[in-house]
Formats: sequence, C-alpha cells, structure tokens
Amino acid sequence: FALSFCFSTFMGSCNIISIKESSSSSPFPSNFLFGTASSSYQFEGAYLSDGKGLNNWDVFTHKPGTIIDGSNGDIAVDQYHRYQEDIDLMENIGVNSYRFSISWARILPKGRFGKINKAGIHYYNRLIDVLVQRGIVPFITLTHFDVPNELEYRYGGWLSPKVQEDFEYYADICFKHFGDRVKYWVTVNEPNVAVINGYRTGLWPPCRCSVSFGNCSYGDSEKEPFIAAHNLVLSHAAAVDLYRTKYQKKQGGRIGIVMHALWFEPYSNSSEDKLAAERAQSFFMNWFLDPIILGKYPVEMQEILGDELPAFSTHDLDKLKSGLDFVGINQYTSNYAKDCIFSACEPGSGTSKTEGFALRTPQRNGVFIGEPMMQTALDWLYIHPQGMEKMVTCIKHRYNNLPMFITENGLGEMDNPNPTNEDIINDAKRIEYLIGYLDALMTAMRKAADVRGYFVWSLLDNFEWTYGYTIRFGLHHVDYGTLNRTGRMSAIWYKEFIGQHKAGI
Ligand code: NOJ
Repeated sequence: FALSFCFSTFMGSCNIISIKESSSSSPFPSNFLFGTASSSYQFEGAYLSDGKGLNNWDVFTHKPGTIIDGSNGDIAVDQYHRYQEDIDLMENIGVNSYRFSISWARILPKGRFGKINKAGIHYYNRLIDVLVQRGIVPFITLTHFDVPNELEYRYGGWLSPKVQEDFEYYADICFKHFGDRVKYWVTVNEPNVAVINGYRTGLWPPCRCSVSFGNCSYGDSEKEPFIAAHNLVLSHAAAVDLYRTKYQKKQGGRIGIVMHALWFEPYSNSSEDKLAAERAQSFFMNWFLDPIILGKYPVEMQEILGDELPAFSTHDLDKLKSGLDFVGINQYTSNYAKDCIFSACEPGSGTSKTEGFALRTPQRNGVFIGEPMMQTALDWLYIHPQGMEKMVTCIKHRYNNLPMFITENGLGEMDNPNPTNEDIINDAKRIEYLIGYLDALMTAMRKAADVRGYFVWSLLDNFEWTYGYTIRFGLHHVDYGTLNRTGRMSAIWYKEFIGQHKAGI
C-alpha cells in the first residue's frame, strides 16, 4: 500500500513525502468510512439566525479575554450558508462520510424550557438530504462541547443530574426527525475534555474551578469533575437506552461515544512507570468507557478516590446496560506518564520531560505527565504516530474488540498572517503527519483491530476554541476575510489515498 506522495510546488519541482511502503495490501474493508470531521460551533456560524438560541460558547467567547485572538464562532466558516459548497469539496476528495454535530441550541433554543426551533430541524434535514444524495454517510454528534445557555445558567452545565433528562429529551427529537437517514450517532464528543476544561482547570465554560487550582471565583476542582463526568456518563446512557427501546429496530443505526484518546507512554521501562501510564489512562479515558462498557468505574479510580467517586444506583446500572455500539477515538497525540506514588517526584524537579503537565489529569492519581514527542504549534499536540497503533490495540484488548472509528486525527499549524500562495497550499507537514498515523492505524488493523472508519480533522480551517483562528487544521485553507476555501496539498493527498483504497491497491 503506497504511502508516498509526490506533489509539485509552484516552481514545478517534485517533492516526495514518503514514510515507508507498507508491505501488504489495503487493510481497509470496502465499506470502510473515510471522511472529515467538524462541529457546529466551530463551523456553522449563523449564531443568531433563524431562531437559534445562545449556547455556552456563544456567551463565553463574547467575554473579553477568553479567546487568544478575541474572536468567536459568530460567523466561523459560515457552513450554515455554505454547506452545499463544502459538500462539493467533500465530493471532490472522494470521502464517503461526513462527521458533524448538531447545535443543541439551534434545535432547542432554551433547552427543555422552550419550544423546538423548526428552522433548525429544517437546516439539518437539508444538510442530511444533500449528503445522502451525494453518497456521503452522515455521522452525527449530538453535543460537541455546546450546551444551550439556558441549561448552563440553570444547572452549571453537566453539574446537575437534571441535565440527563434534558439530553434525553434533545436526543429524542434528533432521532425522531433525522434517524430515518442517519445510521451513525455519537452521543457526546470528548466528555473527558469537556469535564477537565470546564470543571477542573476552568479554562472553558462553565469556567468552574478552585481558587487554589485554577483561577476561578467558584467551583471545586477536586470534586466537580467527577460529578460532571457522572452526569455525562448517565446522559449518554439515557440517550442510548432511548435509542435502543424506541428507534434502533426501526431505524437500524448504531450509537457510540467519542473520547479524546490521548496515549500515555510510560516514561521508563520500570514497572512503576508502566502502572502510572495505566492509571493515567484510567483517570483520563477509561473513566468514561469503563462505566459505559463494563458497568463500573476503573479499579484504580475506585481505589484512589473511594467514596468521592459518585455511585451508580440500581436504576443507573440498568440504563448503563445499554452500553454502546462503537467507540469513537480522537487520536492526535501522546504524553509520557511518570510514577509519583511509588517514587517521589515533584512538579518541576524532574527532567524537562516531566515538567509542565503535572496535575493535568483529574485528581491525585500519582502520575506526572510530560510532553515528550515532537512539538507542534499547539501546546498539547506532540507527534507520535505509534500512539495511534497503541491506543487502538489497547481499546481492542480492554473492550473485547468492539467496533472502533477514528473519529478525529489531524495536524494544526500556526496561522501565518501574511501567507504567500505557496504558504497557503503547501502543508507537507500535515501530509507527513497523516501518513505516519494512517500507517500506524493500518498496522493495528492488520493485527485484527475492528476499525470501521477514519475522519481527518478537518475539512476546513475553523474556530479552534480558546485558540480562536490562530491555529489551522484544514485540508482547505479558509480566508477569514472572504470565507473563500482553497484546497491544500493535503486535500489532494487524501483524495489519492482514498482513491488507492477504492482501487484496492
Ligand atoms: C478535538 C475536538 O473534538 C475538536 O473540536 C478540536 O477542534 C480538535 N480536537 C483539534 O483540537
């Protein structure tokens, strides 16, 4: 399977990017989904159009000092008005799936406390219809970090158990209106990130944390992350349970969750550091997947946190039995994990590899986290393609090889304020990154990991949360003055890659 790619620069010479030639033929089955991923707040814009309500990010970004470049998603890349053009771009690449999210507040401007916004239903109906007409499978996330502001204000977002009913109510509307054409549902995108950023560091809405930990005036960084996580797990369970009992038989779709699947590499070969890496994984990802798939929090969390970990009632456990049909994996990066239970270490006193990320995992898990791999423009993104293979293999073993999708993978680069045409389109680093990670994915699949799809983040440059528009992830460049889209070399590369797969090479 060819993993090299030749592209010509403006000067006409041929640059070859080649990681290595993988030995055997394509491990991707013919019905494998190749796509790109996006989310409503980062793409749609139209933040007040056609009856949409405000969500947590609309309100947060409008507060001064929250976003690096003072920007917001009011317009974003205006996909609300330009979806036809964007679907043309997808068709040109040859993807057979598009992962996007529904804006909760566009469907329910005031959550459960108001009416359904018919214009919102209409928008997603059109988007889904056009995708289906073009042979592009919609892969839909119900909430991608966005919550109607009404719920954020009333409950502190995911902090109240009441939010479970709100989410189920919203999910019901989506299944009912769109489920005839949608065969892949994701309940929540990266609940682990939403919880850590919203309730531990407080850097994202609802900006709750302890004064001693973050820089907040209210919140409790030691307790609230676990409460919010508990409600997220149970909100997922409520939506899946509803789907199973009311819709799945008739509609025949599948439903799962998407995790930020950061790989933790043991800092050394010592058994202490290996255990530390497992603990870090438990406190970061298995924290959500274990209760959903295995019906209980990871043993390491129970041992360390004891009674502080919320308990599941019999009723909760019953709902949790609905489980999921697939795990969505957002795999971009890896960190080192170094033990701090069995061998003393203080933040800052270790090697440079262990500085900086201490305490990034939720709570007292006895692990220092370090950034070891090749640094990129983003402070959390280190290039380590082996992390992809290791993560997929780890999930395969822990959860009995259930179906997986790589729901996101991609490289962000710093915005260049005065780019030449060459700068705009030449993203050789991104191609190299994607080749490395896909190669690692293929290795895992050749060893029988049941991976059914792969989505590049992202089709277009877009609003990168607190980084605003300073980081670009797109296969296409977006000019934020004109909103014009220009294909990069990576778009051509992805097209070739998918083409080779289709041709069975
Ligand atoms: C994962 C998130 O789901 C997405 O919203 C974000 O833009 C990408 N990572 C890149 O940071």
